[in-house]
Amino acid sequence: MRQLIAGNWKMNGLVADSLSLARAVADAAPGLACDLLVCPPATVIRPVAEALAGSVVAVGGQDCHTHANGAHTGDVSAAMLRDAGAAWVILGHSERRTDHGETDTLVRAKVAAAVGAGLTPIVCVGELEAERLAGREQEVVGRQIRGSLPEDFAGVVAYEPVWAIGTGRTPTEADVAAMHGFIRAELVAHLGERGQSVRILYGGSVKPSNAAALMAVPEVGGALVGGASLVAADFLAIARAT
Ligand code: G3H
Repeated sequence: MRQLIAGNWKMNGLVADSLSLARAVADAAPGLACDLLVCPPATVIRPVAEALAGSVVAVGGQDCHTHANGAHTGDVSAAMLRDAGAAWVILGHSERRTDHGETDTLVRAKVAAAVGAGLTPIVCVGELEAERLAGREQEVVGRQIRGSLPEDFAGVVAYEPVWAIGTGRTPTEADVAAMHGFIRAELVAHLGERGQSVRILYGGSVKPSNAAALMAVPEVGGALVGGASLVAADFLAIARAT
């Protein structure tokens, strides 16, 4: 299966710079051996999707509500993301789990809402540093997988150790291999044979300098890139490392 390189722009980007970043990615995309996805802030999904129409670069949101509409001030539904031009959505990112108290149960409901609206979910899991230091990383990630993914899940999982996000630190390749192997086994236990075909992305301080080594680890199906996805040359260098 082709690897997926996904850019999570987080809360960065006004229309002009978002368009220029999206166009730079799209211009280089045809020669690349991986699938490409950009996830801009909700306010620029529509112009970015319009700029990328006809290119191979897909567009996604960074979160969605569990309901299609209603009295939920400030929230965005999966149907709204779809309407704006998104085909994907990131769910359960650690920044949502930490800043907004999102639980596995809530993430699971969001997955159902996303799929119902025709979006492909990318569900994020990952342990805190204290949990890894205590040797509890597999217990934590296993619980997140069983709690966040419905049994009929058909999407992507992103393993993002929280302590590696935006810090410049990454797990060793052996640690990534161990965790991705564990996640694969959990997916098969939870989803049955379907679990074999779920792509498992690695996320957390992926850069041009470490991308080739990380993308070569068994069971790594691509990357969820934060900071480096805001610089077209860096994002494309990561994509070329697949
Ligand atoms: O969703 C992306 C991750 O949070 C990784 O962010 O590449 O800035 O460490 P980062």
